[in-house]
Amino acid sequence: MAVITLDPSWLADCLALDRCALQGLWTEDQWRRELEEPRRLCLGWTEDMSLLGVACGWLVADELHITVVAVDPSVRRRGHGKRLLSALLQRARQQGAIHATLEVANHNSAAIALYASGGFQSAGTRTKYYSDGSDALIQWCRISPSK
Ligand SMILES: CC(C)(COP(=O)(O)OP(=O)(O)OC[C@H]1O[C@@H](n2cnc3c(N)ncnc32)[C@H](O)[C@@H]1OP(=O)(O)O)[C@@H](O)C(=O)NCCC(=O)NCCS
Repeated sequence: MAVITLDPSWLADCLALDRCALQGLWTEDQWRRELEEPRRLCLGWTEDMSLLGVACGWLVADELHITVVAVDPSVRRRGHGKRLLSALLQRARQQGAIHATLEVANHNSAAIALYASGGFQSAGTRTKYYSDGSDALIQWCRISPSK
């Protein structure tokens, strides 16, 4: 069991996890970009070479913009999401990020609880942000200690 940095060789595994954990959120091209671009961080939780979770984000100036956190439904509520989120924040901090931000659907109670446990707080709402008409909460977290 390990948190690893995902490279493009994990593309098929990311797509398979996306289908079962995110109902097919991203296309193959979107995953390829996520895995190839140097300013993007993409971490995976693996067990016996199987990909069971991902946490990804973009580094933009001194901010980490989290794009996805997802865990295989068969292994949820075992702390994998929290470990992946914390590893992603730590990696971003090492690369100079001071704040992290994300959008989360206002009905996604599991993700909202996960992000709250990681120190995220809501700072606003994007109305009808998602294709199903639901709103997104905009959340922020300071990830570098203030001086
Ligand atoms: C959100 C998600 C990544 C959480 O992964 P996970 O591995 O189950 O999370 P963890 O076991 O690390 O849980 C960490 C904390 O989050 C909260 N949490 C996670 N799932 C929860 C749920 N279903 N209900 C309430 N709280 C939940 C709890 O506070 C939990 O701590 P606890 O177990 O000590 O109470 C997972 O549910 C998932 O993949 N969901 C679908 C994808 C998604 O919506 N991603 C977010 C937007 S991209």
